[in-house]
Amino acid sequence: MKDLYILGIESSCDETSASIVKNGTTEIATVISSQIDIHKDYGGVVPEIASRQHVKNITIVLEECLEKANLTMNDIDAIAITYGPGLIGSLLIGLEAAKTLSFIYNKPLIPVHHIAGHIYANNLVKELSFPLLAVVVSGGHTELVKMTGHYKFKKLGGTLDDAIGECYDKVARVIGLEYPGGPKLDKLAGLGKNTYKLPVPLKDDSYNFSFSGLKSAVINLVHNEEQRGNEINKEDLACSFQSVAIEEVVSKVRKAIIEEDIKNIIVAGGVAANKGLRSKIEELAKELDVDLTIPPLKYCTDNATMVAAAGYYAYLDGRVSDLRLNSKSQDVLM
Ligand code: KG4
Ligand code: ZN
Repeated sequence: MKDLYILGIESSCDETSASIVKNGTTEIATVISSQIDIHKDYGGVVPEIASRQHVKNITIVLEECLEKANLTMNDIDAIAITYGPGLIGSLLIGLEAAKTLSFIYNKPLIPVHHIAGHIYANNLVKELSFPLLAVVVSGGHTELVKMTGHYKFKKLGGTLDDAIGECYDKVARVIGLEYPGGPKLDKLAGLGKNTYKLPVPLKDDSYNFSFSGLKSAVINLVHNEEQRGNEINKEDLACSFQSVAIEEVVSKVRKAIIEEDIKNIIVAGGVAANKGLRSKIEELAKELDVDLTIPPLKYCTDNATMVAAAGYYAYLDGRVSDLRLNSKSQDVLM
C-alpha cells in the first residue's frame, strides 16, 4: 500500500499544534505552541484568552510544521482534526483551519475525538495490540476504554465528576503550587509519607471514578488546619492525596483486566506522566502478566502527533467528513 501522510491539527485546550505522521506510526514533524505561561497568571486556562491565542498561532504553527517536514500541502493525503471534546472556541479555530486547507487543497477531512488521539499516542511508541485497555487520565478526562481492534472503542467507565488532572491542579493550588500544579504535586508526593487520612472516593462495583469528594476533603483539611493555626506538612499531604487518587484508578484497572480479558494496557493523557501512577500500573501489569505501554512525556500532553496517528486509522475506517463538520465541546468516543 502507498504511504499515507496525515496532517494532524490540535487546538482543543491551550496547545496549538500541527504534526505530520506517516502511516499512523512515524512522526515526520511536529510543532506545538503552548500557552501555559499566559494562563499561569490566572491559575487555570481562560477560554477566551485561549481562543485568541489559537487565532494568533494557528497559521504560524502549520507553516512551521510543513517547513520542518520539508513537505508541501501537495504531499499530504488527508487532514485529521480534533473536533472535540474541549473548549468550544479553541476547537473552532483548529477546525476552521482544517476545513480551509481541506477545501483549498481538496484533501479529505478526518474528524478525530481528542481521547482517540491520546490513545493513539501509544501507537507512535509501539503498534497497538488487542484486546487492549486504555487508561485515559488527563486534565479533562478519566476514562477506561476497551479496544478490540483499531478504532473499535467501548467505554467501560469514567469519572462521575472531576477529572483526575483537574483534581491534581486544584489540590496543588490550595497548597500553594503554581498552575499546572499536577507535576509539582507529583514531585512533592515523592518526598512525603502517607500520614493524612483521606476518604476513599468510590468503592463500588462499576468502572467509574469520583474525585470531587477527595478534592473537597483536602481543601477542607487545609482550611481547618489554617484556622487552627496548625502548619500543614505539604509533602505528606501530597503523598497521602496521591496514594488515594492513584488507588482509585488502579483498583478499577485491576478489575477491568480480570473481568474483560485484557492482554495489553496503555496509559494516555497528561497524568500518564505521574510517577506514582506509572509505578503502580507497572507493578499491576507485572502481577497480572499483561503488556504495558506508557508513552514518553512529549506524547502524554496535548499534541497533534497523536491526532495525526489516530487520523490514519480513522481514515482507513472510512471516517471522512464533509465541510459541514462542527466542533463539539462534549462527545462520546465511538
Ligand atoms: O492531557 P493534558 O495535556 O490535557 C488535557 O487533555 O486535559 O493533561 C494535562 C493535565 C493537567 O491537569 C496536569 O496537571 C496533569 O495533566 N499532569 C499531571 C502530571 N503531569 C501532568 N498530573 C499529575 N502528575 C503529573 N506528573
Ligand atoms: Zn488532552
